[in-house]
Amino acid sequence: MDSVQDILASYDDRAALDQAYTIPASWYVDERVAGLERQNVFGGSWQVGARADQLARPGQFVTAELAGEPLVIVRGADDQLRAFYNVCRHHAAAVVTEEQGTASIFRCPYHGWSYGLDGALKGAPEFEGVSGFDRGKNGLLPVGVEGWEQFVFVSLDAKAAPLADFLGRLVSRIAPLNIGSLHFFERRVYSLKCNWKVFVDNYLDGGYHVPHLHKGLNSVLEYKQYTIETEDRYCLQSSPMVVSKEDAATAATRTGDRAWYFWQYPNFMINLYRGYMDTNLVLPDGVDGCKVIFDFYFNDVSESAAERNRQSIAVGERVNDEDVAICEAVQRGLHSRAYGAGRLSVRREAGEHLFHRLLAADLKRAAGKD
Ligand code: FES
Ligand SMILES: [Fe+2]
Repeated sequence: MDSVQDILASYDDRAALDQAYTIPASWYVDERVAGLERQNVFGGSWQVGARADQLARPGQFVTAELAGEPLVIVRGADDQLRAFYNVCRHHAAAVVTEEQGTASIFRCPYHGWSYGLDGALKGAPEFEGVSGFDRGKNGLLPVGVEGWEQFVFVSLDAKAAPLADFLGRLVSRIAPLNIGSLHFFERRVYSLKCNWKVFVDNYLDGGYHVPHLHKGLNSVLEYKQYTIETEDRYCLQSSPMVVSKEDAATAATRTGDRAWYFWQYPNFMINLYRGYMDTNLVLPDGVDGCKVIFDFYFNDVSESAAERNRQSIAVGERVNDEDVAICEAVQRGLHSRAYGAGRLSVRREAGEHLFHRLLAADLKRAAGKD
């Protein structure tokens, strides 16, 4: 068996796009690579933990898991956003057990310790006489939290640079598109039998697969005019749109002058059409699996628009079904002895190239530390 160092060294992250290969198949199937990613990619970057609408009012909270760590994100009575490890300081039970809700205090279900929304330990029943026990030092442990647009990000890395630095130019690139005018409508969660990176790769192939796999979607995009920008830790794929009668459902729900597909390293996507946004958060679920959380937003989320919005989601689901089937086939292929790594289209696959280089930089830096 190759060492992790050998596996990481087998990808050349300095090769230019026309020389480059994909990251090797072993990166998609090896438990040790997945472990490095958990610690250093997911545990080391800002990650979307909640939507801002879930935490709009004081007392609202959301629980999340990041890199295997249970977290709770909450808006305090003082209107401050905070996030903590959702791990009781007594004997490690999860303090908050609901996915989301509103609270004025968090009470651990195990022995009833209670914590304020600021994390401070408020009550510890029957704990008199415990020598050297300092309540002030037994609050929930904090993690980093910051908001941007409709998203609340969390970070386990105490030394993380501010979120704005992590997002870089993405912030100013999205600002003119005014996504704040879109409102959350519905969430759908998909489980896929493929490594999380297979889903990201499929997203970042610059529309390469669209004419072959997504005939309906292809009918409204000007495929030849599709552009791919890579900068900092984001990739923007964008296409002018055409009016087409080929696929009525797609034509009715995917409108506007342009389609905008943003990806932010490592695992968050924002897809925009006129009056429409969906976001995708890709979470690893073992080496051979992932979970993708789709949140759908619309400019009009009133009752009268609900039917149209659901139609729009159905169009998105059809595209996603096509992607799921191919991603799962890719994962099986990556396990085959017949495959090692592949080349990249210079015209189409600059986004994948950026993804693979950013990932390699994170993993090689991490492996160098051991
Ligand atoms: S584990 Fe939370 S009170 Fe005991
Ligand atoms: Fe696709």
